[in-house]
Amino acid sequence: MLIHSERLLLRAAEDTDAPFVTALFNADESVIAYGPHFPVSTRATLEKLHAPRSVSMIAQRLEDEAPAGLIRFWLSWGDTVMNVDDVIFSAEYRGSGYGREALGALLDHFFRRWGGRRVELQVRSHNEHAVRTYKGLGFVEEGRRRQVVPPGWGADTDPDYLLMALLADEFVPPKPRGGDSNEHQGH
Ligand SMILES: CC(C)(COP(=O)(O)OP(=O)(O)OC[C@H]1O[C@@H](n2cnc3c(N)ncnc32)[C@H](O)[C@@H]1OP(=O)(O)O)[C@@H](O)C(=O)NCCC(=O)NCCS
Repeated sequence: MLIHSERLLLRAAEDTDAPFVTALFNADESVIAYGPHFPVSTRATLEKLHAPRSVSMIAQRLEDEAPAGLIRFWLSWGDTVMNVDDVIFSAEYRGSGYGREALGALLDHFFRRWGGRRVELQVRSHNEHAVRTYKGLGFVEEGRRRQVVPPGWGADTDPDYLLMALLADEFVPPKPRGGDSNEHQGH
């Protein structure tokens, strides 16, 4: 089944999405999340999309069917715990609420229809935009992996990773936007 939100459709990623996903990871703007890395090939992306037990979803705009972002996760503990590996949106769409909206729709599906109990992820502590996105949905910080990122690995890098998690009764669904698509721009 497909998952809808106000402005987005969440659907399974197909092989034909590989060039879009590759471009997401190769974008300079993604360094904040993943650090400096060597260029990613379409073949490497396909391997990621085909990884066993991994679920990859494309968030696609309802307005023009353009792919806007990727969410990738896997399930554990009898499929009741979601482990989020990737949440990444095109730089052109960041700050327009798509990240929160897409993740919110997925979490709503996971908790209310699938019967999920817990969602967990790791995020670089200096990635303020992502941390705000997760906290806004109710995620809480459960721990910190200290000094993971090597010194000098990107400018002004905070070396730590936060361990964040969300339980079903902590989930804060995103508020309907009512047509205001620029609310989050300008940070
Ligand atoms: C993180 C990401 C998925 C969020 O999606 P998004 O659509 O850009 O985020 P939203 O517009 O829904 O905004 C979410 C929150 O971030 C805030 N925000 C927006 N732009 C921001 C910025 N430049 N810096 C800090 N916070 C910002 C918003 O105000 C909102 O918080 P608030 O409701 O408390 O005001 C997206 O920015 C992205 O793909 N980033 C690069 C990859 C990445 O870092 N992924 C996370 C890896 S763990």
